[in-house]
Amino acid sequence: MAKEFITNSEEETGEIASRLAGLISRPAVLTLEGDLGAGKTVFSRNFARSLGVEGPVSSPTFTIVQEYELESGVLYHMDLYRIGDDDEAISFGIDEYLDRKDAVCLIEWSSRLQWLLPDEVFSISIEHVSETQRKIILSDNLCELM
Ligand SMILES: Nc1ncnc2c1ncn2[C@@H]1O[C@H](COP(=O)(O)OP(=O)(O)OP(=O)(O)O)[C@@H](O)[C@H]1O
Ligand SMILES: [Mg+2]
Repeated sequence: MAKEFITNSEEETGEIASRLAGLISRPAVLTLEGDLGAGKTVFSRNFARSLGVEGPVSSPTFTIVQEYELESGVLYHMDLYRIGDDDEAISFGIDEYLDRKDAVCLIEWSSRLQWLLPDEVFSISIEHVSETQRKIILSDNLCELM
């Protein structure tokens, strides 16, 4: 069964993201789901920080993919919200990103391209509980790492 955590603040959601970043090995593909304002960007920023990314981190809604060089390897942060169709996905090179053996791919709105994803995907879903609380749902394979 997937595991659920309730967080009571942005910081607590960030802590989960940081912890997961420290546990994941490469290559890895993580999907991140959640409504507007759920905390996807909060999660992504803390996740990236813990992988060693400095400077601003925001979801690449218009550019679709943001690449961050890591000390070893690379983080691809993708936001597929604006992807029109399969051709567009192929043309921005998603296969290459997914194929890189030293990459962590963190993908928002991944359901648009589900068919392109590898079998082993880690999934994170964030749901609103109240103004300051969120439910973080982690897939089994992520829980096993914790
Ligand atoms: N427990 C919590 N966890 C995460 N964020 C929280 C929590 N409680 C309140 N917040 C607030 O919710 C907001 C989450 O915003 P964020 O930009 O991360 O959402 P998003 O999922 O990226 O939305 P969008 O789809 O619009 O980009 C922030 O303002 C944050 O401070
Ligand atoms: Mg966002």
